[in-house]
Amino acid sequence: MVPRGFFITFEGGEGAGKSTQIRLLAERLRSEGHEVVTTREPGGSPGAEAIRHVLLTGAAEPFGPSLEAILFAAARSDHVEQVIRPAIKRGAIVLCDRFIDSSRVYQGVTGGLEPDFMAALERVTINGVMPDLTIILDIDPEEGLRRATERRGQGTADRFEKETLHVHRRRREAFLDIAAREPWRCIVIDASGSEEEVSAAVAEAVKKSLWEVPAEKIGETDSV
Ligand code: TYD
Repeated sequence: MVPRGFFITFEGGEGAGKSTQIRLLAERLRSEGHEVVTTREPGGSPGAEAIRHVLLTGAAEPFGPSLEAILFAAARSDHVEQVIRPAIKRGAIVLCDRFIDSSRVYQGVTGGLEPDFMAALERVTINGVMPDLTIILDIDPEEGLRRATERRGQGTADRFEKETLHVHRRRREAFLDIAAREPWRCIVIDASGSEEEVSAAVAEAVKKSLWEVPAEKIGETDSV
């Protein structure tokens, strides 16, 4: 068993299969006897889910990217304090669909916001709760969007899905840049394979990280 809680985030573009992989990993970890909390952003707590609605319908879009970034941050802050920090404290493994890297990429890089503004917002929002492990599911945006459209059926694309292929490509590069800059917490997994192939790679990465990451690298969640 892990001696304390553990915080894993899943990142990547649209249609990378994050929610499926989270479900499969949760089943696997539960069958090994771990308490697992699965959650998502934006959302994951009642306050944050209310903000999610405002963000994904595009209601906040006319007010510009800084206001959207602040709303994502407000939702995240509530989610961290209501759900993530308490779960880590009691020893659970938290699996979160998107977290800070989505803000860094969608609002920071493709939203064009200042790095200093984004860094300041991130610091106050997470208040020390950094992921121990971030799994970046990497997929060619064209294939990802095709999968996302298939999954959605007749429904309409959300505020962020509907952007151009060029924007989705820049996001992919930005996730890969983060992984290259922070290799101690990030791992990139090729998400173009079958569900089983990807889930085996995810399980392997998680196993390694749970048991092999040196204590001093486990990060700020020690201070939760
Ligand atoms: P969601 O329906 O959860 O999409 P996905 O299945 O792709 O995760 O919608 C979340 C959308 O919000 C997604 O397009 C990414 C965007 N987003 C941001 O722009 N910034 C953020 O900080 C987060 C968490 C999400």
